[in-house]
Amino acid sequence: MRELDRLQQIAENMKSEQLTHKELIAQRTHINVSDEEIDGMDRLIYNHSLNKKSFREFMKLAPVTFQNRIQKEIDDGVIPEPIYQNKQHLFTRMHIQTLMDHWGMPKYSDQYEPRAIAIENQKGGTGKSSTSAILATASALDLQTNAKVLLIDLDSQGTLGQSMISTNVDDDAIYLTAVDIALGKKESTGDYANLVQNGYTDREIILNAPFSTHLPNLDVMPAFSTDERFHDLFWQAQTDEEKNQLVSRFAHEVIPVLKEKYDLIIIDTPPQESPLIWMVNEAIDCLLVPISPREYDFAATANYLLTTHARFEGLPSNGNNLLWSRVLIVNHDEKSPSELDVIDKLSRTVQDRLLSTYIVHSELVAAAAELNRTALDVAKSEKLVPPRKYDDAMTSINSVYKQFIREIKSISVRGK
Ligand SMILES: Nc1ncnc2c1ncn2[C@@H]1O[C@H](COP(=O)(O)OP(=O)(O)O)[C@@H](O)[C@H]1O
Ligand SMILES: [Mg+2]
Repeated sequence: MRELDRLQQIAENMKSEQLTHKELIAQRTHINVSDEEIDGMDRLIYNHSLNKKSFREFMKLAPVTFQNRIQKEIDDGVIPEPIYQNKQHLFTRMHIQTLMDHWGMPKYSDQYEPRAIAIENQKGGTGKSSTSAILATASALDLQTNAKVLLIDLDSQGTLGQSMISTNVDDDAIYLTAVDIALGKKESTGDYANLVQNGYTDREIILNAPFSTHLPNLDVMPAFSTDERFHDLFWQAQTDEEKNQLVSRFAHEVIPVLKEKYDLIIIDTPPQESPLIWMVNEAIDCLLVPISPREYDFAATANYLLTTHARFEGLPSNGNNLLWSRVLIVNHDEKSPSELDVIDKLSRTVQDRLLSTYIVHSELVAAAAELNRTALDVAKSEKLVPPRKYDDAMTSINSVYKQFIREIKSISVRGK
């Protein structure tokens, strides 16, 4: 047998042992979210719970008024009794969200238009996935903003989206990635086609595709290696019109439906330029480019930005959909003189499109990633990193989030 033929045989062997999307999710959800319990309570649920005092302060209510309102909702069965632990009453995010909805508190969508935001940079390892996860989690944790958030993972080589799923896996359920949905009726076989045959509308399929996470207002659409077939279909398309149709599917069929349900749609993208990136670019309102302040990343980002104009101009909307773009410094070691040089260069060149806040390099970000979490999902009391380092990372992440959400809100006021 020729060596090349032997390789083909090996590939086919491996393919036969490859887990399906569904099996993979089933495995991952077993090891995540519930990997640790605090007195019977899931670690992630516990970390994001608020004690009575914090919740009351957010509600801006006097203690007696707050107590009476809470007691009424418990008596009426709106929420169960709060969890009593370490001499304090804890309200989970799920219960807080239920109460906020029940009380008709202001929502993001009352005042702001929904936005799709891509996190993009052709350079691998520059911080796209970390930034996507941090911003999505920070947005979902922000009670004041009260937005519904969707994180779409489009990097078929990564595991970001899958690691955030907390749904119990149902044997009968069908799992679709964002690419499955984008291709939709283009494919005559497969899960999407089966759903259509069973009478579901595109809208129903799209709205039911996202998975829930540990946060009530954060959902996620994971990627899977079969997403690569988007490229195959694109390159097989015979005419420009067919190619344009494929590239427009997100913009025309998927994102508008998701915007009925979600206020902030954050899209993590793969590192290489490809038809998938074009499809994303055609559909987004906002573009955030994370960059680690190192010379190689600076050079790669310059190349990426140089091609961005032509990339958007060549799309059906000619880039007129893009409202906001910013460069964000991430993974920055403040003690490194060479990084400070790169930041100076970024200030001189990116100017007003460089966000003034940045995410510091932190053991917390890396340690959290090891646990399939973001830094925001780690409690200080877990002592994953020393308290000072924990505070530094949190301060930096929160400052970036605040600037991000303020800017997004400022371009999204309804009726403007
Ligand atoms: N602020 C940070 N501090 C420490 N490590 C970081 C930070 N941001 C990213 N990293 C690490 O750098 C690596 C690449 O980041 P990632 O977000 O996956 O980049 P990309 O998605 O662009 O490939 C990951 O191992 C991640 O944990
Ligand atoms: Mg990534």
